[in-house]
Amino acid sequence: MFAMLSMFAVLFVLVVSIAAVAAAASEEQQCRGQDPMSSVSTFLGMELDYEIADRICCNNHRFAEPKGYHEWPEVDFYSKLDPNQETIFYDSVCGLPLFVAPRGRTFEEFVEESLYHGWPSFRPAEIVSENVIIHDDGRMESKCLTHLGHNLPNSGIDRYCIDLVCIAGTMPLAIQATTNTNNTTSSVENNTNTIEKEFDDNDGTIPASEFNATSYKSSAVENSGKYPKTKQRVLLAVGIIVPLLLIFAGYVFVQRRRKASRNNDKGVSIKTLSSDPEQQQPPPAVSTDAGTTNSDECEKSSESSTVPEN
Ligand SMILES: *[C@@H]1O[C@H](CO)[C@@H](O)[C@H](O)[C@H]1NC(C)=O
Ligand SMILES: *[C@@H]1O[C@H](CO)[C@@H](O)[C@H](O)[C@H]1NC(C)=O
Ligand SMILES: *[C@@H]1O[C@H](CO)[C@@H](O)[C@H](O)[C@H]1NC(C)=O
Ligand SMILES: *[C@@H]1O[C@H](CO)[C@@H](O)[C@H](O)[C@H]1NC(C)=O
Repeated sequence: MFAMLSMFAVLFVLVVSIAAVAAAASEEQQCRGQDPMSSVSTFLGMELDYEIADRICCNNHRFAEPKGYHEWPEVDFYSKLDPNQETIFYDSVCGLPLFVAPRGRTFEEFVEESLYHGWPSFRPAEIVSENVIIHDDGRMESKCLTHLGHNLPNSGIDRYCIDLVCIAGTMPLAIQATTNTNNTTSSVENNTNTIEKEFDDNDGTIPASEFNATSYKSSAVENSGKYPKTKQRVLLAVGIIVPLLLIFAGYVFVQRRRKASRNNDKGVSIKTLSSDPEQQQPPPAVSTDAGTTNSDECEKSSESSTVPEN
């Protein structure tokens, strides 16, 4: 019995510390405390809702812009792109380059897949992998901690389901000025959200000023294994299977002790207890595929996102 209690104690400590780590991780300040650029609302001549951008990109880890937002009449995203060339998409908050599309497929394929799913959808060849974090649960954010969307693979290949409002940034003005080759950089620098200096030698992040789309090649893998179900399975394993195994082990342990003590005083009522020692029950069957799993978080999210969250 003592053994079982101590096992539960260990388990309890484990669960509490996991929860503490998770809580600490979620306290990182989203968008590093900044807001989306004001130019988001007029990105490529569209009328984007700045309030949605601020809420989804900087005050949210779960929800998405409304499904099909990219098709709304005042948005009409794909008509604003040049079908004959790649477009670089920049972070709505800090201007980091995040995606270059279409790449490795036609413009029509890019548009068709995005319309089918309801959000701009990018593939591994199209991500600036150094600038985007894909969390184990599939959630995606930029290195500036701007929420971007979720990785929701199709037929085994990662598909990044991304909120348009969070990739509606422009290259920071300071860099535009520099690339225009005149000496006016300092006058615009302080008017932008640019935090490029923080990235100089910071874990491989590529600032807009150093990004050459022509020569750039994504190093993202086709199948990162990071998508919403991964986390649920791990949690399920830790949360259910491990405790069951521990209980089972405790049960076996107690039975052994009983048996041992019975052997010590032989002859005393062997029969009364003989029915159960061999009958160790396997732990109750556990389904590894919880019914609550929703494979497409973006779609789930959009419904909820029509209600303001906070
Ligand atoms: C840069 O500045 C010079 C004079 O300072 C001016 O003659 C030139 O037109 C400017 N170039 C651009 C691209 O603005
Ligand atoms: C700024 O202008 C000066 C003099 O015209 C020139 O020597 C210098 O290279 C310029 N700097 C940049 C960053 O263009
Ligand atoms: C920009 O801000 C820095 C401090 O953050 C300051 O030193 C610099 O003078 C400012 N430049 C302009 C043009 O205001
Ligand atoms: C970008 O890369 C291409 C191909 O390597 C090269 O030709 C081009 O000069 C580069 N552009 C810049 C601005 O460095």
